Formats: sequence, structure tokens, C-alpha cells
Amino acid sequence: MQDFIGGQLSGIPKGLPPESIIFGKTSTMQQLQQRVEKVAAANVPVLIQGESGTGKEVLAKYIHARSPWNSGPFVKVNCPAIPGTLLESELFGYERGAFTGAYGSKPGRVEMANRGTLFLDEISELDPSLQAKLLQLLQDGQFCRIGGQEETRVEVRLLCATNHQLEQQIETGAFRQDLFYRINVVNIHLPPLRERRADIPDLVEYFLAVYNERFGCSAGPVSDHLMSLMQNYGWPGNIRQLENLIKRYVILGSEEAVSNELLEVEPTYTLPEIDVEGSIPFKKLTRQAIRELERKIIIKALQANRWNRKQTAKALNISYRALLYKIRQVSLSPPDSRRQSGKGPVVSYPN
Ligand SMILES: Nc1ncnc2c1ncn2[C@@H]1O[C@H](COP(=O)(O)OP(=O)(O)OP(=O)(O)O)[C@@H](O)[C@H]1O
Ligand SMILES: [Mg+2]
Repeated sequence: MQDFIGGQLSGIPKGLPPESIIFGKTSTMQQLQQRVEKVAAANVPVLIQGESGTGKEVLAKYIHARSPWNSGPFVKVNCPAIPGTLLESELFGYERGAFTGAYGSKPGRVEMANRGTLFLDEISELDPSLQAKLLQLLQDGQFCRIGGQEETRVEVRLLCATNHQLEQQIETGAFRQDLFYRINVVNIHLPPLRERRADIPDLVEYFLAVYNERFGCSAGPVSDHLMSLMQNYGWPGNIRQLENLIKRYVILGSEEAVSNELLEVEPTYTLPEIDVEGSIPFKKLTRQAIRELERKIIIKALQANRWNRKQTAKALNISYRALLYKIRQVSLSPPDSRRQSGKGPVVSYPN
């Protein structure tokens, strides 16, 4: 448990979670890790996509830490946080007299990231003129400060992140296709937490250790009941939501304070992103939607019947065998599942 503090495992710098926590153990994340290890060493732009809270920034920092430029700076620019007109000077810097109030010259973040990594967060928010300037930087490795005459050359590794489908923004003309090809040399898609449920127990244990240490608390492991709720929850806010929930649990020291959030009715099934340009995997999408719906119905019925499977099958008007099959299919964990030293729940039902 102590090994977690400060994220010092595997030579990963302070502030980042250890590798075993960043990638977990699901096969999707294992494959993603292999891809990341290969790509970290090559100076190619990487586009990290994923829902909010899935760990895009954590991954960007990890890639930087694993790259040959890790002794250089990691410079983050949160595109939507800086108003359009300011963003250009923030990114590319300016020369004295470039605009009213420019009493001196100032380097931009692109220059600051020289020989390191430039991380453009929420790249989809970049306005068209800045998209053009960024494209030039990627094509020629140089750019001009605002009001400057000379081109400045930089060596920068570019990482971009977004939780939007850039392909759709290209359709509407909001994002340049040529820039998309440049930043999307390698694409990494971080799965939502609900698609990597097997990693939840280890994440919980990790956040417990971190926040017990940070707040000087001694909250014990969560109960099997709470773990079961967490395993069966949809996590619209992904790892960030889980982290905040454990933070609250540690500070308040009570499971009740957090379990209500997990019992709240989740938004109904939302349509996943569909690439209308390519072929649409209709059968796969509807199968996923049905499974998600079945999962929710079965959880409700199991909870109402205190996880008694025979009663639940009766209530759902399906055979006992059919229910067992469905439970396996949607990988549900009952409240009495025992966690074995962070290796995930062992499924054992009351009956
Ligand atoms: N694999 C992980 N292990 C431990 N903590 C993580 C992991 N991924 C994310 N976190 C934590 O979850 C929170 C959100 O992560 P991060 O900011 O990287 O997500 P994001 O995808 O960039 O979110 P957004 O789209 O909202 O900007 C952070 O506090 C981060 O430390
Ligand atoms: Mg982010």
C-alpha cells in the first residue's frame, strides 16, 4: 500500500500514479499500454481521445515521462480556458509593440516547450486562425511571434487531447482536416471506466492510500456492499468521479455519504459516438445497448430481492438458468464478493 504514495513505482515521476494503476489489468488497457510504450519514444504527434475524467492528462504526462525528452519541460495549454485573442499570444508569444500594452517581448508556450512536450488540451476548441498557425508549426517546425519578423525554430513533441469527436467537427467545418491528419499520427482512445470495471478495486485501494496519507486519516477498506455498488455503477464522470467519491469517503469516514450517489438513477442509455462516414456496426451497437439495459434491469431486480437469484428470476419472469447466464454475460458482482488482495471480486452469490 505504501508503495503507492507519490507514484514512485517503475521510475514514474512524483505526482503520477504507478504504472499498474494507470493501466490496470483489463486487456484493452494492456494493449493500450503496449501501444503507448512503443509510441512514447518516437517523435510523432499523438492524439488522446476519451470521455471526461478517463485520464487523458495523466496519460499525456506518462508519455512525456517515457519519452527521450523527459528531461525537458512538459508544457500544458488548456485551450478553452484562455480566450481566443489571448490564446495566440499565450501560445506563440509576441514582440515589443505587437499590440497596445506589449511593452516588452514574451515567449509563448510553444517556445517554452522546446526540447520537451507541448500538451494541447481540448484541441477541438482551437479557433481557425490558430489552427492554421499550428499547422504551419507542424509542417515546418517553425512559427512567428505576434508582431515578429523572423521565424523561430523549435523542437517540440506535440500531444493533443479531446473528449469530442474531431471527425464530426471536420464535417461541420469547425476543425481543419489537414491539421487533424497532422496531430492524429497516432491515436489513443482511453476507454470509459464502465468498460474497465475489473480495475475498480485497485483504483479504490490506490485512492484510499493516497487520501488517507494526504488528509492524515485512517479510513478502512470499503465494505463489500459499497464495492459491489461501485462495480455496478455507470461512472459518467469516470476515474475523476471515483477519485472524488473516495476523497469524500476518507474525509467523512462514512459509507452512507457516498453510497447515495451510486444509487441515484443514472441517465438513460446514451448513443455512443458513431462515425457516419465509415460503415456503422449496427449489430454491435444494438447488442451493446441491449446488454447495458439488461444489466441495469437485473441490478435493480437483484437489489430489490436482496441478491437472491431464485426470487429475482421469478420476479423477472425468466428461468433461473437464464438469469445465471445473463449475470455472467453482464459481469455483475454481488455484494458479498470478496476482494482478494486487489485481484478483483470473486463472484459468489447467496443462492
Ligand atoms: N489511471 C489513473 N489512475 C489514477 N488516477 C487517475 C487515472 N486516470 C485519471 N486519474 C485521476 O482522475 C482525474 C482526472 O484525470 P485527467 O485529468 O487525466 O482526465 P481527463 O481525461 O484529462 O479529463 P477531462 O476530459 O475532464 O480533462 C485526475 O485527478 C487524475 O489524477
Ligand atoms: Mg483533461
